[in-house]
Amino acid sequence: MAYVPAQARYQHIPYARCGNSGLKLPRISLGLWQNFGAVDSYETARSVICRAFDLGITHFDLANNYGPPPGSAESTFGRILRNNFKQYRDELIISTKAGYDMWPGPYGDRGSRKYMIASLDQSLKRLGIDYVDIFYSHRFDPETPLEETMGSLAHAVRTGKALYAGISNYPPDKTEEAYDILRTMGVRCLLHQVKYSMFDRSPEAGLFSVLEKLDMGCIVFSPLAQGLLTDRYLKGVPKNSRANKPHGFLKKEHITQDVIEKVRDLNGIAADRKQSLAQLALVWVLRSRQVTSALIGASSVKQLENNVGALSDLSLDNSETGRIERILAQ
Ligand SMILES: NC(=O)c1ccc[n+]([C@@H]2O[C@H](COP(=O)([O-])OP(=O)(O)OC[C@H]3O[C@@H](n4cnc5c(N)ncnc54)[C@H](OP(=O)(O)O)[C@@H]3O)[C@@H](O)[C@H]2O)c1
Repeated sequence: MAYVPAQARYQHIPYARCGNSGLKLPRISLGLWQNFGAVDSYETARSVICRAFDLGITHFDLANNYGPPPGSAESTFGRILRNNFKQYRDELIISTKAGYDMWPGPYGDRGSRKYMIASLDQSLKRLGIDYVDIFYSHRFDPETPLEETMGSLAHAVRTGKALYAGISNYPPDKTEEAYDILRTMGVRCLLHQVKYSMFDRSPEAGLFSVLEKLDMGCIVFSPLAQGLLTDRYLKGVPKNSRANKPHGFLKKEHITQDVIEKVRDLNGIAADRKQSLAQLALVWVLRSRQVTSALIGASSVKQLENNVGALSDLSLDNSETGRIERILAQ
């Protein structure tokens, strides 16, 4: 059946300016790292994307290697776009990245100009679009001069293959360097994509203050710690969960007794707030003034809707943050 987006799609969720730029992102964005590969159900993928757009999620995040197999999440998204979103391209922010192992030989990985530009061309083909909104260097490559990697991002912007440039997983000092290099090339570094959740607070150690100083946007990935910060694993490991999939990056050994005890206590705080733990985890990352958007994953429409529900109450008082701190410190 032909997809017709909900008319009221911009009445559900807030948008935030991405650093000192003209671009606004939804406070919750959807990532296609898992659940959108060729091994996954196309119909579920389509339902999740369409429901996300109906709820006001305009930003969809990809990378060359998302799948499995690598590349297939871009192909799935391209097919969904072609069949459902042709006339809505200008309402979408589509990002992709290059930086991890993608094809054999010395030119299919890391940060060389050869790899970055060839990879972007491949991504555009799989997605079936002329440009992406954001093109990222997926990780810092110590073997390639930073000028070369940043030069590839600047080239993508100048040639119109990307509208904005971003970086992901860069340490604080290299973030500042990358920003300065791009600036000398006349391109602003729009945003940093970094892992952040109650279970991984590393950006608090320095990156957040660099982003604040540079007035750069920040989108945080795996805010639910890949599902750990939800009720998903409270009664064991469900068959269809990420931790039970052979290609999942969340492993059963990550679900320790210590983790589950913390999750149970955090779930208690969420229940007191009449929220799900997933919602509390999202409110918690979005409380940081540096965070423009929380980049979630979802394997069902139900999860997506539950997560978007977090945006209806973003308040978190001092006694609640104090309780959370005490649980995390245990
Ligand atoms: N730049 C990078 O290096 C990098 C790295 C990783 C990810 N990312 C980006 O960040 C995006 C999100 O990462 P992520 O998928 O790890 O995020 P996440 O939101 O922490 O985890 C998503 C998983 O949590 C579970 N879940 C989600 N909502 C739920 C709910 N309401 N109740 C119960 N369980 C729920 C689902 O697990 P089940 O599948 O088990 O149902 C879902 O697949 C990726 O798609 C990608 O775009 C970027």
